[in-house]
Amino acid sequence: MNRYYITTAIDYVNGAPHIGHAYEKILTDVIARHYSQRCDDVYFLTGTDEHGIKIQKTAASQGITPKELCDMNAQKFKDAWKALDIDYTKFIRTTDDYHEVAVQHIFDKLLKQGDIYKHSYEGLYCSGCECFLNPKDLTEDGLCPDHLKKPEVVKEENYFFKLSKYKDAIIKHIKDHPDFILPEFRANEVLNQLEDIQDISVSRAKSNVQWGIDVLGDDEQSIYVWIDALSNYITALGYDENSDDFKKYWPCDVHVIGKDILKFHSIYWPAFLMALDLPLPKHIFAHGWITIDETKMSKSLGNVVSPTSVLENFNMEYPDAFRYYMATSAPCGRDGNYSDDDFKEKVNAHLANSMGNLLNRTLSMLVKYFDGEVKAEFKAENLLAKKALGTVQIVKNHFDNFELAEAGLEIISLVDATNKYVQDNAPWTLAKEEKMVECGQVLTNVLDVMCVIASLIYPYCPNIAKDMARQLSFDLSTKLDDLTADSIKVGKLISKEDIKPVFLRLDSELADKGSKKS
Ligand code: MSP
Repeated sequence: MNRYYITTAIDYVNGAPHIGHAYEKILTDVIARHYSQRCDDVYFLTGTDEHGIKIQKTAASQGITPKELCDMNAQKFKDAWKALDIDYTKFIRTTDDYHEVAVQHIFDKLLKQGDIYKHSYEGLYCSGCECFLNPKDLTEDGLCPDHLKKPEVVKEENYFFKLSKYKDAIIKHIKDHPDFILPEFRANEVLNQLEDIQDISVSRAKSNVQWGIDVLGDDEQSIYVWIDALSNYITALGYDENSDDFKKYWPCDVHVIGKDILKFHSIYWPAFLMALDLPLPKHIFAHGWITIDETKMSKSLGNVVSPTSVLENFNMEYPDAFRYYMATSAPCGRDGNYSDDDFKEKVNAHLANSMGNLLNRTLSMLVKYFDGEVKAEFKAENLLAKKALGTVQIVKNHFDNFELAEAGLEIISLVDATNKYVQDNAPWTLAKEEKMVECGQVLTNVLDVMCVIASLIYPYCPNIAKDMARQLSFDLSTKLDDLTADSIKVGKLISKEDIKPVFLRLDSELADKGSKKS
């Protein structure tokens, strides 16, 4: 496996990023970093979705132009991702010139080859979803079930895409590739939606939606925001088919998206790709939604949490603890929850008490008993090494199914087993009994396993992992398949003044202030 292409959904810029947007970017960054430990070249794409009626209306309500709104908010997303150490390769904005031109060509190609046609239509449009809704999907009160708003009646002559032509091929693809949609339980939902799929409108009248990409040669229509948005996954690579990056990275390994936009990614997008005669992505991973204190986030409830406010309120030097908490907050594809108390409790227990203390205590004993030196006779049979290398395989398997919380649990269970090993072998008692070789062996075995732990925790907690690796003189760029659980070198490892706790317990007084709600 030499190259890996991974994308996130691109976020609407009608507001600032919230914890739900952050959840997805953290999941994707953790996956990207994990695969960077398995292959040479990872391309990680994220960005912002900037056209459509929702942005147009928000800008108008704020008395600014849509472009001004997009510029202001796109920057907030970039700043938040920087604060969270989201290490993307490229940030695409759908208002980037190259993207707009490529989307016009994609649309034009589909029109010329007869996959797009003109048609008069009356439907119910939800600007929150940026799509027409089927009347049977509305609530009893006639509201959009996701946004709880009344959709607008739209009567327009639009361009339509022949989605129905691709229905059978998509059903076949989903059935033939059980890992196309992950987790697998979501595939049935999509197959049900495919039952009554119809052609879809792929443009809006410019008299109603001005903020969009123009259809080439028709200045009365703008291209539907979902064709515009989905195309980002190929335009970012410089699509057309001859672009070097496109040839190198397409098809994508995984689109990481929320469960609410699965239909667009597993029905519309494959159909567009089939029409363009391009291969389909290997996986679509639909994550669940994050609630706040078990309540759905909403502006009206005033419980929208900004990810950077969590970092500020807990006075965190690094985003690692927040990344770890979010990435492990829900089993694969299920909904998760954020609460200040649970956050504090979990990261204090896992990162400070279990993992951080283990390293700190072990290094301190090495300094106390051996002046920080690993002697040749300390390198002996290590019963924990087998478990550590077994954990590497289990973690890899979990990542192949995008089971990040499950992989996180495995890592913590290796930490727990290592703590138990220390407890069972009591190196302090061995030292008291002057069994110094045995004592040195126990400490060295633990430190060897700590190198594996540093490597495994790196995708979640890159800064903590770097701190651990520095104190262990371990090369964190070691690929997962090259880990030996035997990396600690004979000789002086560390001095007292170089031992530093890798994660301090979150200060409870600060934490009790609670994260700022906006
Ligand atoms: N612009 C579209 C996506 C186009 S992708 C070609 C969109 N934008 S969004 O801003 O509404 O959502 C962006 C991503 O954030 C989606 O994957 C969505 O599921 C995710 N989330 C938004 N709120 C969320 C939570 N509360 N929890 C977890 N993820 C959530 O949809």
